[in-house]
Amino acid sequence: MNASVDFGIEQENAAVAVAGKQAIWTDTSASVPALPDYLVDVYTWAYVAPKMVDLLDRELVVAAILWLQQNKLMRAARAELEPGSRVLQPAAVYGKLVGHLAEKIGPTGEYHVTDIQKVQIDHVKRKIGNLPQARCALSDARTTGDGLYDTVCCYFLMHEVPDDYKHDIANNLASRVKPGGKLMFVDYHEPAFLHPMRPIIWLVFKWLEPFAKTLWKHELREYVADGDQFEWRKETFFGGLYQKVVGTKRA
Ligand SMILES: C[S@@+](CC[C@H](N)C(=O)[O-])C[C@H]1O[C@@H](n2cnc3c(N)ncnc32)[C@H](O)[C@@H]1O
Repeated sequence: MNASVDFGIEQENAAVAVAGKQAIWTDTSASVPALPDYLVDVYTWAYVAPKMVDLLDRELVVAAILWLQQNKLMRAARAELEPGSRVLQPAAVYGKLVGHLAEKIGPTGEYHVTDIQKVQIDHVKRKIGNLPQARCALSDARTTGDGLYDTVCCYFLMHEVPDDYKHDIANNLASRVKPGGKLMFVDYHEPAFLHPMRPIIWLVFKWLEPFAKTLWKHELREYVADGDQFEWRKETFFGGLYQKVVGTKRA
């Protein structure tokens, strides 16, 4: 399905969008990526239709989606970043996350935020485009990245993509980490059996997030083919509903 035809979305002729004062960064592999079927079929209402993106890119919405756990999860991601480091985030995130991560990285670092959609990159630019550390570009997470990074931060992307994408994205991101650097996933996880939200989340996944429940069965590190090149740690939040998984690449 071609989203740019069906939904009038300006993707086909979009120029690669870049922000920041330093040299322009573009994804070398795909200047204007096509929208994948899953994004159009399942997530148009949430991430593709420009009016909905305007409506939903708000902290209040993020707080509702994440059951008020957004600050705890954001702090968990932020804690893995070092000032002055080079960081890749392969998909846009609604709300204030990008601003907070950009602040931690600081003006001497580089914060590459990429997304497969122009409408999302435009929103990221609105939030952090004036910061010297920010580079925002259109790019598929399966191929994104420019050289090696101290930290790759994959924030709530994996649950939204089909299994073949999960493998391709995880492997690309793993290949982008410097020796000694970190590959971080923050995403859903299987909640405790008696977690009061478990039935609600189960229904949300069934109706709205068809690729998410697999994260209840599989560890995120399993999607990295050569997982042994990393030393893994995992932390769960809110009764197990969310997780942060960090792989440190062996030097
Ligand atoms: C990170 S996820 C969801 C994050 C979280 N639920 C939130 O509140 O924003 C949403 C983003 O992933 C992007 N996305 C989906 N598939 C992608 C892919 N293959 N490559 C890059 N970005 C992708 C979508 O365009 C969307 O902007």
